[in-house]
Amino acid sequence: MKVLVLSIVLCCVSAGAFLVQTQPLHQSTPGQQSLQILTKTLLSLTNHSAVVEEICRVYPTLIIPHPGECQLYYNCSLTYTSVPAHLEQHMVECNYPDLFSEKTNQCENFTDVCCGARTEFKDKCSYRHGNQNGYCHFKSCIGDPDGMVQIFNFHNFKICFKERLVGEGHCKIWFELPYNGKCTSRLDIPISKGGLMPSCNGKTDGIYRFDHSSALQYAMDYGDYFHIGRVCDAYYKCLGGNITVVKCENGTVFHIDSGTCKPGNSSLPNSCQLYCNPQKTNVHPFPVNVAECPYPLQFSETTGRCENFTEVTCGTRKEEKYICNYWESLFYNRHGGNCDTRNIRDCLYLPNGVHRDPRRSPSSFIRCYGNRLVEEGKCTIDSVWGTQTFIYNGTCTQRFAIPTSGADYGLLPSCSAKPDGNYQFRTRPCDAYYRCEGGRATSVKCPEHTLFDVTRRTCASNVACYRA
Ligand SMILES: *[C@@H]1O[C@H](CO)[C@@H](O)[C@H](O)[C@H]1NC(C)=O
Ligand SMILES: *[C@@H]1O[C@H](CO)[C@@H](O)[C@H](O)[C@H]1NC(C)=O
Ligand SMILES: *[C@@H]1O[C@H](CO)[C@@H](O)[C@H](O)[C@H]1NC(C)=O
Ligand SMILES: *[C@@H]1O[C@H](CO)[C@@H](O)[C@H](O)[C@H]1NC(C)=O
Ligand SMILES: *[C@@H]1O[C@H](CO)[C@@H](O)[C@H](O)[C@H]1NC(C)=O
Ligand SMILES: *[C@@H]1O[C@H](CO)[C@@H](O)[C@H](O)[C@H]1NC(C)=O
Ligand SMILES: *[C@@H]1O[C@H](CO)[C@@H](O)[C@H](O)[C@H]1NC(C)=O
Ligand SMILES: *[C@@H]1O[C@H](CO)[C@@H](O)[C@H](O)[C@H]1NC(C)=O
Repeated sequence: MKVLVLSIVLCCVSAGAFLVQTQPLHQSTPGQQSLQILTKTLLSLTNHSAVVEEICRVYPTLIIPHPGECQLYYNCSLTYTSVPAHLEQHMVECNYPDLFSEKTNQCENFTDVCCGARTEFKDKCSYRHGNQNGYCHFKSCIGDPDGMVQIFNFHNFKICFKERLVGEGHCKIWFELPYNGKCTSRLDIPISKGGLMPSCNGKTDGIYRFDHSSALQYAMDYGDYFHIGRVCDAYYKCLGGNITVVKCENGTVFHIDSGTCKPGNSSLPNSCQLYCNPQKTNVHPFPVNVAECPYPLQFSETTGRCENFTEVTCGTRKEEKYICNYWESLFYNRHGGNCDTRNIRDCLYLPNGVHRDPRRSPSSFIRCYGNRLVEEGKCTIDSVWGTQTFIYNGTCTQRFAIPTSGADYGLLPSCSAKPDGNYQFRTRPCDAYYRCEGGRATSVKCPEHTLFDVTRRTCASNVACYRA
């Protein structure tokens, strides 16, 4: 009976190479190997679970390769009390990427297994274990070369071997990317591959600064918010169309005038407030060795340091006068911070001097110089007059000296249509008066221990203060 079944089976699956070389058919009692062939073949025809359970009852130690998937087999010695959802009773899956060897009857390195007609899965997600929750996050290596393969143009990588995923990781140094099978400095990776190494094609021989390219765009959270690029700590040489990248040694920055990396600050071509500083490590938002002078200073090519802008000749370097255009403040206000809403661009349009701060109370002022905001402040209390001072006519002025017509906080009455002479303030005790002269009003404070005498219209001692 068994022999009969076997011969039928043989006809049906004659394509299976594994059958050809196995036990001769005339053998009356099938050995372990032919039993396996028999059962495996049976399984390919009918309901696995039913057949396997039946066979395992008869042969409780049998090991049976799965007929369809090369990483699966049945182990009759192994009975699950509760069958894992992704498996069947007695079914075992080799650990990825191992496969089940019919030669050794156990899982082996996939390189050593011949699957024959059984399907050989290369993706981790095709293994039942990888996909047991109905979703699978493992990367595929199908079509990839052996070794480290970059993922999504970023510093994450997978390691592939014969299209199997054998590892995953990321380059530890953010400035490195997986390239040519190892974590490689972006300086040594062409721009087209996400690196920073420019091309010397069509460039004359010479020394070049790295471009202000957007090559670091996807890495902007790693210190180059403004996409200025590696302008300070490296440069490149073109010779006969070939490129050599030179990384500046610690403590030096690129000086374009000498074409070398040297100690000491150096200027940058596009900005008068930015410069290269060998002492500056990479601090967000600037890439390594790029520094900015504090507003409103600018970098002097003469002294090699940040100086008062009045002393600096910017030449072709762009000169920023507005505080909100300094990168430090652009960066710190990038999420709709208060720089622009404070709208302190006024100095761009105002003459030198003190002006009322239009954003704040009338006692707040800004001081402009050279169209820069050089001071923000608040007028203090006038100690002689004992009142708050306000910006009037370019200076902090006490209220009794500000004409009522000039501002609603002014308390100096108008002299128009008043004869020349001294007048009592309506809004102040008798320690002061105002003088009218040709229609012009001036406030006058009485000397100490004197009061304004309403009848004599002058300050005197021992007078009683009353309102006329
Ligand atoms: C296969 O056999 C098992 C066990 O006898 C049974 O639970 C299952 O429903 C069967 N499946 C099919 C598709 O017939
Ligand atoms: C089969 O299962 C038995 C019992 O769990 C175990 O000892 C044996 O190593 C297994 N064999 C294989 C090839 O998995
Ligand atoms: C599998 O075989 C390959 C090639 O012989 C070898 O490089 C690799 O280390 C082996 N893997 C294991 C887990 O032994
Ligand atoms: C440029 O590189 C090519 C290929 O490496 C080399 O054959 C050639 O000699 C190099 N040219 C110069 C000027 O170095
Ligand atoms: C560069 O030098 C500074 C100070 O001399 C030191 O703190 C830093 O670790 C050095 N960096 C590298 C990468 O050598
Ligand atoms: C570089 O510039 C900074 C800022 O002005 C300054 O403190 C430092 O002394 C300068 N370094 C040199 C070597 O001049
Ligand atoms: C910068 O120079 C101007 C004009 O010489 C001067 O008024 C101002 O006080 C200087 N600022 C600083 C911070 O030295
Ligand atoms: C404003 O100040 C200037 C100089 O300080 C002075 O000459 C002028 O008279 C003042 N104008 C008024 C309206 O007070």
